[in-house]
Amino acid sequence: MAQNIFEGKAIAVTRTEHDIAELVFDLKDDSVNKFNALTLSELGQAIAEIKNSSEIKGLLITSAKDVFIVGADVTEFLSHFKKSDEELTAWLKSTHELFNQIEDLPYPSVAAIGGVALGGGCELALSATYRVLSTNGQIGLPETKLGIFPGWGGTIRLPRLIGADNAIEWIAAGSTQGAQEALKVGAADAVVEPGELTAAARDLLLRAIKGEIDWRERVNTKRSPLKLKSPVESMMIFEGAKSFVAAKASPAQYPSPIEAIAVMQKCAMMTRDQAVDHEVKSFVKMTRTPTAPNLVTIFLSDQFNKKKSKKVSVQAEPVNLAAVLGAGIMGGGIAYQSASKGVPIIMKDISQKALIQGMAEAGKLLGKQVERKKIDMEALAKTLASIHQTLSYGDFGSVNIVVEAVVENEKIKKSVLQEVEQHVAQNAILTSNTSTISISSLASGLARPENFCGMHFFNPVHMMPLVEVIRGEKSSEKAVATTVAYALRMGKTPIVVGDCPGFLVNRILFPYFIAFAALIEDGVDFRRIDKVMTRFGWPMGPAHLSDVVGLDTSVHAAGVMTAGYPDRMTFSEVNPIALLAGQGRYGQKNGAGFYKYETDKRGKPQKSDDAAVDGILAPCIKRRLEVSDEEIEARMMLPLINESVRCLEDKIVETPMELDLSLVYGLGFPPFRGGALKYADSLGLARCVETSGRYENIAAVYKVPALLRGMADGGKLFYPM
Ligand SMILES: NC(=O)c1ccc[n+]([C@@H]2O[C@H](COP(=O)([O-])OP(=O)(O)OC[C@H]3O[C@@H](n4cnc5c(N)ncnc54)[C@H](O)[C@@H]3O)[C@@H](O)[C@H]2O)c1
Repeated sequence: MAQNIFEGKAIAVTRTEHDIAELVFDLKDDSVNKFNALTLSELGQAIAEIKNSSEIKGLLITSAKDVFIVGADVTEFLSHFKKSDEELTAWLKSTHELFNQIEDLPYPSVAAIGGVALGGGCELALSATYRVLSTNGQIGLPETKLGIFPGWGGTIRLPRLIGADNAIEWIAAGSTQGAQEALKVGAADAVVEPGELTAAARDLLLRAIKGEIDWRERVNTKRSPLKLKSPVESMMIFEGAKSFVAAKASPAQYPSPIEAIAVMQKCAMMTRDQAVDHEVKSFVKMTRTPTAPNLVTIFLSDQFNKKKSKKVSVQAEPVNLAAVLGAGIMGGGIAYQSASKGVPIIMKDISQKALIQGMAEAGKLLGKQVERKKIDMEALAKTLASIHQTLSYGDFGSVNIVVEAVVENEKIKKSVLQEVEQHVAQNAILTSNTSTISISSLASGLARPENFCGMHFFNPVHMMPLVEVIRGEKSSEKAVATTVAYALRMGKTPIVVGDCPGFLVNRILFPYFIAFAALIEDGVDFRRIDKVMTRFGWPMGPAHLSDVVGLDTSVHAAGVMTAGYPDRMTFSEVNPIALLAGQGRYGQKNGAGFYKYETDKRGKPQKSDDAAVDGILAPCIKRRLEVSDEEIEARMMLPLINESVRCLEDKIVETPMELDLSLVYGLGFPPFRGGALKYADSLGLARCVETSGRYENIAAVYKVPALLRGMADGGKLFYPM
């Protein structure tokens, strides 16, 4: 007969057959288990009760949910980060003590892991003597993605279990591992079918209790210094890893992966109990960096948006079959993305050649997935077969949603949309992937404008997470909901925005290019601007970005933006982008823009300097001013901040969180800075107002928006704690 040892709202412990205490995580009123304040407090009480039960011979740790434990509760992180060093240290150490108590029990313990065991959940599992994973189990320490590192013993136990090299790889990359990977390196002791998980874990525990396996030896290994062959080996592993990681992401911007390696290195020589202090101290240091709260804020904004999107999707029509019009760069990418996420799609073009190219592109992307062992050949063939290419509207009667991705020309788009409307069912949703044309205006020729909205993807579709879902004047809730739901099915992050020239992301980006042109006018070399802005954290500088987007495309977009916002989005008479495009330099696509491009052995374009460009740009330069790097940064970023604030004023997007998320996911805004509005908060809004005001005579994009001035005067923040 099972006997109750502890019963709480997150944890229950019972004494079961063979005197095994079974500790079950089951957080009430939540779909997942997580280490929030309640769970941690109950874990303390549960362990105390277990230790008081003298008959217990082994501990089994399980979950009553589909997941084991998803990790520490990230919604509590920002308030932990606000704690004093002493308070934070005490909080970390109290959990260390709990996990150590589990490890130090006078009998063996086994964690039975079905679903995910991440972060703190993984660290708890590592404190058990053994781990059994179900085939769908996943384990990992993703903390470095939030600007911190595992702070409940993960940097101590994982290297001792799976070796320093594996642990460095897991922790520095913050990756999640499947059950088989975990088994291969020794993080898991067995992998079984989900239905057999508890029985298998119990069986392993019984064998340990009976002394058939030397569980004490395992515990000793975890509590002793790390076994490394020699100091030279240690040096090679840890120092090599540090250089590798530093080359991937700037340690000044993303310090936690390197700090985690340094902690593992230092703790390698120590016993577990000595190492705890060191891990805690370094963890506290990471919470003091600006990167940690910024990355946590993005994570929380992502969760907020996911919840909101799911709520919106309740009203969606089911999507069993989609269609894309146009098999070009975007259409091909959309078809690939839809098919690879399991939504069959018809890809229609007017050119057979375009269809062949679109399919070839999808095939290439799938081939890479096979190379990386993400899918097998069967999945490749199945996905390709779910893209139906056509030159006619034959099968459009059964399509639930259409994405129009033909050339960026209002007249053509309108006529294509009117045409397709006649071939689809009455309740089918039509969307447009236009970058610049007003959704309300495109809807004007439609018989059912309520069934239409914008669905704006970013290039390359398979890489960029953002999809702007644009609500036109007449778009119905159903149209928006179905588009949001389809974007979610495609594995994307949909953000609902209002209809205006440039929508949200391109509208905010455009003033940044006006600032760029104004700096060139003041005699600042574009290459230097690119360097300063990549140092700021952008994946590429504005000149390089213009080349990638296409200078002809940028000129076209500029026309739309200037017409849309004539008060501020105008270039002075000589626009460097237009000047280069006028010389036939369209950017990366034809090998020449601000830079010149040659294709390397792997087929990737490599940029290099082109002396001819200075001559072409000479007419743009009006004066030669001394401009410092700090000024370049401020002059580039303030217009982008101002326009972000204007989008909030105009209610183009509902919250600062969605706005910043859009910039990170759609533009590659440096995540460690948290987005434009979070960055403005960190600069200080009063300082933004003052500096931008100083530049007002340069261009109208520096004019301070009323909302920003009001917030600065009122001492407010976009992210009040
Ligand atoms: N390329 C980008 O970076 C990007 C990013 C976001 C949005 N967009 C938008 O996506 C749309 C497509 O852009 P793209 O870069 O893929 O263009 P693209 O020129 O590569 O492809 C357009 C395709 O549409 C086809 N087409 C033309 N008329 C058609 C018709 N009546 N029916 C079916 N197909 C037709 C063409 O044959 C061509 O294959 C544009 O509205 C563009 O503004 C582009």
